[in-house]
Amino acid sequence: MPQYFGQLHTLDPSWSQIEAVKTVEVGDRHLLFNCGNADVKISLLADNLIRVRYSPSGDFLPRRSWAVTVEDQDWQPVQFQTHETETTTEIITEKIKIIIQHNPCRIQCYDLQNNPFAIDGELGFAWRQGLTAVWKKIEPEEHFYGFGERTGFLDKLGEIKTNWTVDSLDYDALTDAMYQAIPVFMALRPELSYGIFLNSTYWSRFDIGVEQPGIWRMETQAPELDYYIIYGPEPAQILNTYTQLTGRMPLPPRWALGYHQCRWSYESEIVVQEIAKEFRNRKIPCDVIHLDIDYMQGYRVFTWNEKRFPEPKKLIQNLSENGFKAVTIIDPGVKYEPEGNYAIFDQGLEQDYFVRKPNGQLFHGYVWPDKAVFPDFLNLKVQKWWGECHQTLTDMGISGIWNDMNEPALDDRPFGDKGTKITFPLDSLQGPPEERATHAETHNLYGLMMSKSSAEALLKLRPKERSFVLTRSGYAGIQRWSSVWMGDNHSIWEHLETSLPMLCNMGLSGVAFVGCDIGGFAGNATAELFARWMQLGILYPLMRGHSALSTAQHEPWVFGERVECICRDYLELRYRLLPYLYTLFWEATQTGSPILRPLFYHYPNDSKTYSLSDQVLLGSAILAAPIYRPGVECRAVYLPKGIWYDWWTKEPYSGSQYILAEAPLERMPLYVKAGSIIPLQPVMQYVDEKPIDSLTFKVFPGTGEGILYEDDGHSFEYIQGIYSTTKYQVSQENQALIIEIEPRQGQWTPPDREIIIDVVGVGEQRFQDDGQGKILRFS
Ligand code: NOJ
Repeated sequence: MPQYFGQLHTLDPSWSQIEAVKTVEVGDRHLLFNCGNADVKISLLADNLIRVRYSPSGDFLPRRSWAVTVEDQDWQPVQFQTHETETTTEIITEKIKIIIQHNPCRIQCYDLQNNPFAIDGELGFAWRQGLTAVWKKIEPEEHFYGFGERTGFLDKLGEIKTNWTVDSLDYDALTDAMYQAIPVFMALRPELSYGIFLNSTYWSRFDIGVEQPGIWRMETQAPELDYYIIYGPEPAQILNTYTQLTGRMPLPPRWALGYHQCRWSYESEIVVQEIAKEFRNRKIPCDVIHLDIDYMQGYRVFTWNEKRFPEPKKLIQNLSENGFKAVTIIDPGVKYEPEGNYAIFDQGLEQDYFVRKPNGQLFHGYVWPDKAVFPDFLNLKVQKWWGECHQTLTDMGISGIWNDMNEPALDDRPFGDKGTKITFPLDSLQGPPEERATHAETHNLYGLMMSKSSAEALLKLRPKERSFVLTRSGYAGIQRWSSVWMGDNHSIWEHLETSLPMLCNMGLSGVAFVGCDIGGFAGNATAELFARWMQLGILYPLMRGHSALSTAQHEPWVFGERVECICRDYLELRYRLLPYLYTLFWEATQTGSPILRPLFYHYPNDSKTYSLSDQVLLGSAILAAPIYRPGVECRAVYLPKGIWYDWWTKEPYSGSQYILAEAPLERMPLYVKAGSIIPLQPVMQYVDEKPIDSLTFKVFPGTGEGILYEDDGHSFEYIQGIYSTTKYQVSQENQALIIEIEPRQGQWTPPDREIIIDVVGVGEQRFQDDGQGKILRFS
């Protein structure tokens, strides 16, 4: 137990606290505060964004950032004023005020109504051997979200969160470090939220009121503390700014929003063909089949198993003719095979691309192929070489890459021998010769850099088609390169439940394209669990079913007719919702907004939403309240303010209250906000099955507006402006409902189609879409 527990004003004596400010230098964007040995630098990057750096030694080392895409000098100039008194320096932008108290040096932020946020505690900056830290106040009613990939409930008040990527198989609600390490969070209370991004790739930790109630602390093993404060006041603005800083996701191919089927493993071409055939025969929509490690020859990455997959090109061609894309897994561990005939090992060794120990020897660990060596993805040349290796897969016709085990996950002895998980020695050096960095600094980047290598390679190797990349590990900014799944969950109800807050917190950490293994990876789902998981799964931005070796099969038809029917119905709903979903993906590329959102994202002043871990919004219009316990057939649902329509019965409910929802096995409670228009397309067996010849705008009476984004769904032409947007509004005039579809904007022309305006509870009108828009009255 740390010695400062419960004593805000005294500190474990091994910590050295920052001294008083001695001098202040004001530059055109930076303010430098000298505090004896230490320096603090505050950079004003935007009206709502500042960067704070605290160096105990006073040296600000030249810093590469692996996550930040906009350097300090590249932000637009910010208007700000400074004001010096004897005891403070004040900085005022158009949105916030920062007061730097001089003795002792403390930073305090306020909005322009003088509401405090991110205020240094009685303890402020401090350091001790190997750690730099800051203590800040938790304001009354404040709650904490984000933190990357986390188990448990939504709000992380009262928890400690470590940022260090690990293979966290067998995770549960108490697990701390996970596969992803994304050191970002947001604090929310009515009227004010702010975000913190700790710009450190080293081991770091957030303590949200555990050691000292009322105080949060962050510490890192980096030699300086470097963090950004982002003012909201609402979560959406925080994410907008945070993803400006760390980048946004590119638009995925539309097919990647369809259903993905996976298993460890569909072990041969014959099995894969059978799975594909079942989907089509049973008319269960599906777009993607993932090939797990057994497609490889003895788990050698970038090879094909000649016995089980003798004709991969033909297989993938065949899948493609039936509307399936193939995605192959790739692990970082390269089989150690000095005497063999394994080109990847030979090339990597020859070019010195594998991680070495500090003494210069090749580092090895044990993974699937037994003894393995590991590419140094920090080195750009390695990224490029590894990327080129992907050609063995793209030549066969694959459309995406699934990067696994890249925390990296490895054992000290062969798998199956009850080994211990290890990592590279922390003092082994990585990166290009001119810029070596220790593994202590770069560990958290391994998955990020591997994903970057894949994403860039696919851009080169498939220059005309958008590709799909999936990763298990990552760091801040992973959204630029890859989608992410939450690793090895279990076929248990608790993991169905926790999937929602996990995915929401990922979205609040800038990563919108996320999913969990539907049905649970480890263990055997019951029919009921599988049905409920498939229902909830239609809300996952990445909708993939997966299951582990030696578990029961988890395909939609293995649980009997009733569950098969439920799976089909919900998958059909997912496919009908594609125009709505794809627009959300596009919004994520533009603003960094999550696709799956906790309710407080749109109702940040409603404190009833702060702890709601078991309800979610898909975009702003659709609210889901899934069932996540066996035998449960009804549940309480909180509806925020406004009117909400039951998706199934179309009955309207007033918000700001709890209602009891009926939820027999066939039904996941779903609601739509009054004033929403949900664009729907016909059911398809796969996303590109046929042109969309009718588009239904499902109107839920009320007042509201929305937008539909469209393009060809697969090429890069949208980057040249070949896309279109259609805005629409619903309003009420006396007793009439007015629906205005504005003229379509942009250069993409959809195929001929009929537009159906379906007003819930009122009736429908149809017209041929000429792009000119329409105003319709329903009374
Ligand atoms: C671990 C991954 O998390 C899992 O999804 C995969 O099936 C296995 N590795 C085997 O590749």
